[in-house]
Amino acid sequence: MIALVSVLLVSFLAPEVSAVIGGDLNCTMYNGTFFVWTPAAVACTNTISDASCAILYPTTDTLGYPAAGNNAVRPNACYTTAAATPAAVVPDMKTAALASCPKTCGYCCNTDAYNCKNVDYPRLTCASITTAQCNSPAWRTIIATDCPSACGFCGQGGCVDAVTNCGNDLSICQNIGMQDFVNTYCQKTCGRCPSTTTSSSGSVTGGTCTSYIADSSTSCSAWASNGFCTNTFYTYAQRRARCATTCRLC
Ligand SMILES: *[C@@H]1O[C@H](CO)[C@@H](O)[C@H](O)[C@H]1NC(C)=O
Ligand SMILES: *[C@@H]1O[C@H](CO)[C@@H](O)[C@H](O)[C@H]1NC(C)=O
Repeated sequence: MIALVSVLLVSFLAPEVSAVIGGDLNCTMYNGTFFVWTPAAVACTNTISDASCAILYPTTDTLGYPAAGNNAVRPNACYTTAAATPAAVVPDMKTAALASCPKTCGYCCNTDAYNCKNVDYPRLTCASITTAQCNSPAWRTIIATDCPSACGFCGQGGCVDAVTNCGNDLSICQNIGMQDFVNTYCQKTCGRCPSTTTSSSGSVTGGTCTSYIADSSTSCSAWASNGFCTNTFYTYAQRRARCATTCRLC
């Protein structure tokens, strides 16, 4: 509350600071002084052209449109029929903006791909994850598990490729020499994510192939019940060499 009052006070005392986000704080975070747009507010694309969105949703703010970290006011038409800011949210206006111009309106965080629950104790601060992190092999799989809402990973079931161009050449999924690579970087495209469905015998269902090389050990079903199939202490190649059929490892 004190923070809010000081924001209003600052904007009152210093009118040259044009922007204070008001009305609908969705997709913003408080940076210690101002409410500013989160990276996820503007991480998606508009469904119609940006130029058309600029005409439908003109901005009067000297800062221009919402961008990660700035506090440009959301164009009024994005969420209200009123002319003054801040104004009450008119749900129809917001629904229309979400469907056509979510980026222009700073509403990406409310679209389906960005609108889901993160884990309770994420390994990183979900609200401040950047676009660069969303595209980084070092971060993508962690983000998909802990902060799916930050990068539009909702609905992926926690499974994404670590690199973004696996789909360019699907033959790598079958290439013997590429298995270590695809198991690490193309989990989604090549069907290598640990499946969440585990059968009663403990064997894992997943993978895209329909036949498997034979198990070389007779203990596979016992090992599988102990989690061998998904235990990353063993490499994919080691698990496949022992229990390809039981673990359904292509
Ligand atoms: C986000 O938008 C919803 C629906 O318009 C609204 O109910 C909610 O209060 C908003 N949240 C914030 C933080 O403004
Ligand atoms: C908060 O955001 C405003 C507007 O972008 C910026 O001027 C200010 O430096 C930021 N403050 C902090 C502590 O990051």
